[in-house]
Amino acid sequence: MRLLAELDMAERKITLEELSQHVKDTDTWMAINGTVWDITGFAELHPGGPDIIQEYSGGDASGPYNSVHSLKLAEKNFEASQKIGVLEAKCVDDKLPTENTRNPRLETDLPDLDEIINLNDLEVVAEKCLNERSWAYFSGASNDGFTKLDNSEYYRKILLRPRVARAVQDVNTRTKILDDVYDTPIFNAPASLMMLAHPDAEMALAKGLAASGSTIIIPTLSSFSTEEIIEALPADHPFYFQLYVSPNEAALEKMIDTLCKIRPKAIMITADLPIFSKREANERYEKRIAKQKLASGPKVTTATGKKGGQARSAGVSIDPNLCWSNIKCLKERTGIPIFIKGIQCAEDAMQAWKIGCKGIYISNHGGRAADTAQPTILTLAEIRLHCPFILEEMEVIIDGGVRRGSDVLKAICLGAKGVCLGRPFFYALMYGEEGVRYIMQCEFKRPPAHFYFVQVFKPRLTAELLVLKDELETAMQLCGITSLSEAHIGLLNTKALYRDVETPGSLPSKL
Ligand code: HEM
Ligand SMILES: Cc1cc2nc3c(=O)[nH]c(=O)nc-3n(C[C@H](O)[C@H](O)[C@H](O)COP(=O)(O)O)c2cc1C
Repeated sequence: MRLLAELDMAERKITLEELSQHVKDTDTWMAINGTVWDITGFAELHPGGPDIIQEYSGGDASGPYNSVHSLKLAEKNFEASQKIGVLEAKCVDDKLPTENTRNPRLETDLPDLDEIINLNDLEVVAEKCLNERSWAYFSGASNDGFTKLDNSEYYRKILLRPRVARAVQDVNTRTKILDDVYDTPIFNAPASLMMLAHPDAEMALAKGLAASGSTIIIPTLSSFSTEEIIEALPADHPFYFQLYVSPNEAALEKMIDTLCKIRPKAIMITADLPIFSKREANERYEKRIAKQKLASGPKVTTATGKKGGQARSAGVSIDPNLCWSNIKCLKERTGIPIFIKGIQCAEDAMQAWKIGCKGIYISNHGGRAADTAQPTILTLAEIRLHCPFILEEMEVIIDGGVRRGSDVLKAICLGAKGVCLGRPFFYALMYGEEGVRYIMQCEFKRPPAHFYFVQVFKPRLTAELLVLKDELETAMQLCGITSLSEAHIGLLNTKALYRDVETPGSLPSKL
């Protein structure tokens, strides 16, 4: 009987007029892509902030919804019992918005991939081709952006000490993390709102990374649902999950259930952003849009507050009271290996080790958390100097400012097992999955050795030119190694780096 009643509800035709009557806090409806949902109470739980939900309550929200979410996200997040019915056909807003996500320049000015020969080129293209909102969001950092700059600059302070005459023709970039072997040590740094770069967002990322023998770190704040992203991976392909611990008890319980069901190889708990930082590029953009809206009509519901719209979302998604005991509890409840993302000093690396985390993920959120925080590669050097056993007993991964294959090699020589890139994947996604494959992997099937003509005259075409993995292999060969297991500190001159390493005042002893 109940099923029948639900079926009737789902088929019920609803007019825009009826929809518009359900706008009270205690009775809120919203249409998304033709389906009418009862979203009472959802505004305060929405990770993107309540304003946008309130603005479209009692109306058709397909436009803003589709600009950052997959078609199925609503189905996955709302209960079947929240489905009220379907919007009358003539009322359905069938235009998929392009204003927020797609810049017309992405269609006309985007150069062929093979014109891009390094990640700096890719960033230049992104600045030119992405719309203002997406560029501000992706490229932005906190305050003055000093940490963002330092993350990259400090790689330059490390010099290489190549070995010669080491027979380096055959090279591989394999790495092993928690018993899984990957063809490359390069992963995505988890990030939200990926659909601002491409409608295929994490789906393209998952496919491109898996095809290159790497894998995806699925973000909590994804544009597609976690289930959709996992389905995009080959069967049984390992994956990781980045967790923002929710301050909402029910949401956290639901998340724990999901994690226990999907069982990622590790949960990477982001700990470096307990409150939202000051993102000035976002603020400027949001203030300008708010002014424009004011000028064109009286109804302004987007944030004009001090920290801009993004500020609201953080409080909903991230628990500012996260502490080590919560993390320990999550570890025990899920039984899934835990990494702490956002480790920025040796003391916290030790703390993560003490509570039994399997890994640390050295990060300062790409300079989007505390500005003037020390660059991540310096943190790795600090840990290496003051608690080197961490590098032996835990899995260590790092992100922040990695833009060259030689940067990847430097991080591995200093003790990291894997290296993640944030912004470059957003920029690669301007090209969808192809862009991800392009920076990660060689599509070209090498001809048999006797096939000289093809080998010698092999054109450097899009599918063949692989930016980052190629750079890593080249850096390894030029330094005289053919496997990452041969990478060691002796391949580096770290004098300039170690000059800046802090001596922690009160490092707890290992025992
Ligand atoms: C179905 C359940 C929904 C979930 C799980 C969800 C989830 C999210 C997440 C994770 C973000 C990114 C937050 C961030 O990175 O700061 C976001 C942003 C956003 N969401 Fe939703 N959302 C849902 C429903 C909706 C609906 C119904 C709308 C339509 C009005 C909507 C419109 C937006 C917009 C416009 C943003 C971007 C906000 C910004 O620019 O800061 N979402 N949402
Ligand atoms: C646009 C953007 C969104 C991000 N969103 C998240 C997120 O949702 N969760 C998280 O743990 N880190 C997030 N980060 C931080 C990244 O995981 C990563 O630490 C950082 O981007 C690495 O620096 P890089 O961009 O210089 O490579 C985000 C970074 C960017 C640029």
